[in-house]
Amino acid sequence: MRNNFDITGKVVVITGGSGLLGRAHAQAVAEFGAIPVIGDIDLGPAAGILDEIHKNTGIKGDLVELDVTSSNSIAAALEQLTNVHGRVDVLINNAALNPSVSNKSDDSKEWSRFEDFSTDVWNRDLDVGLTGAFLCSQIFGNHMKENKHGVIINIASDLALIAPDQRIYRVEGLSEDMQPVKPVSYSVVKAGLVALTKYLAVYWADQGIRVNALCPGGIFDNQDIGFVNKLSELIPMGRMAEPSEYKSAIVFLCSEASRYMTGSCLTIDGGRTVW
Ligand SMILES: NC(=O)c1ccc[n+]([C@@H]2O[C@H](COP(=O)([O-])OP(=O)(O)OC[C@H]3O[C@@H](n4cnc5c(N)ncnc54)[C@H](O)[C@@H]3O)[C@@H](O)[C@H]2O)c1
Repeated sequence: MRNNFDITGKVVVITGGSGLLGRAHAQAVAEFGAIPVIGDIDLGPAAGILDEIHKNTGIKGDLVELDVTSSNSIAAALEQLTNVHGRVDVLINNAALNPSVSNKSDDSKEWSRFEDFSTDVWNRDLDVGLTGAFLCSQIFGNHMKENKHGVIINIASDLALIAPDQRIYRVEGLSEDMQPVKPVSYSVVKAGLVALTKYLAVYWADQGIRVNALCPGGIFDNQDIGFVNKLSELIPMGRMAEPSEYKSAIVFLCSEASRYMTGSCLTIDGGRTVW
C-alpha cells in the first residue's frame, strides 16, 4: 500500500508555484520523492522555496519561468524541462489571480461589484485562471500523450461548487453599491476548471492520462480577523485551512494511490460545501 504513494523521481510542474499554495504542493511532492518544478511568472521567491525543500527533503527541485497565458512561454518551459529531466509526469494547474476583496475603495465605484464589473478584469482573470489551464493542459498534455502517461491536477476551489456568500465581505458603513464582493470571474474560472477536468478526463482516459480537480476551502493567511470569524462560521469545522492541509491530497492525486480516479473533484473544505 505504501508503495502506491511513492512518486520518487516524478517530474511535477506546478504553475503559480511561487505562491502560498503552490509552494505547499512543491513541498508535498518532494516529501514523497518527486522533483518539484516551480513554474511561475514571478520566480522571485522560487530559489528560497527550493532551498528550503532541499534542506528538508534532500530533493533538488527546479524552476522555470512560465507565463500560463502564453503558449510560446509554455512550450519553451516544456522544452527546457524535457532537456533537463527527459519528461514531465505531472502538471498542477495552480496559477490564478486571487484578488483580495478590498475593504477600502477610493474610487467613486467599487470595482468588484457585478453591475459595473469591467471586461478588462474579467478577461485578465479568465486568461490566467482558465485559459492558462487550457494552454498548459494542451501543451504538457500532448507531451504526456506521447509518453502514454501523465497526471493533470486542476486547483479549483470550494467556490467552484457554491456561490460566494457575499455577506462575509461586507464593510460597516459603506453604502450598498460600494460594498465589496468576491468577483464573478473567480466563480466562473473555478467552475470552468471543473468542466475542463471532466472533459479532459474522458478525452484522454485511454491515453494513460488522469485528470482530477482539487477544490480547497479558504486558507488562513493573516486575513482581517472580522473576515476570518465570519468565514469560520460558514464552515462546520469552524476554521479556515492551513496551507499544509492539502499536501496529502496532492500526493494522493499525483500517485498510483489514485490510479482508478479520473474526472473527479476532491473537495477539502472543512465541510463548508455540505452546509
Ligand atoms: N488561498 C486560498 O485561500 C485558496 C482557496 C481555494 C483555492 N485557491 C486556489 O489555489 C491556487 C493558488 O492560490 P494561492 O493562494 O497560492 O495564490 P497566490 O496568489 O499566492 O499564488 C498565485 C501564483 O500564480 C502566479 N501567477 C500569476 N499569474 C501568472 C501567470 N500568468 N503565469 C504563471 N504564474 C502566474 C503568481 O505569480 C503567484 O505566484 C489558485 O488557483 C487559487 O484560486 C486558493
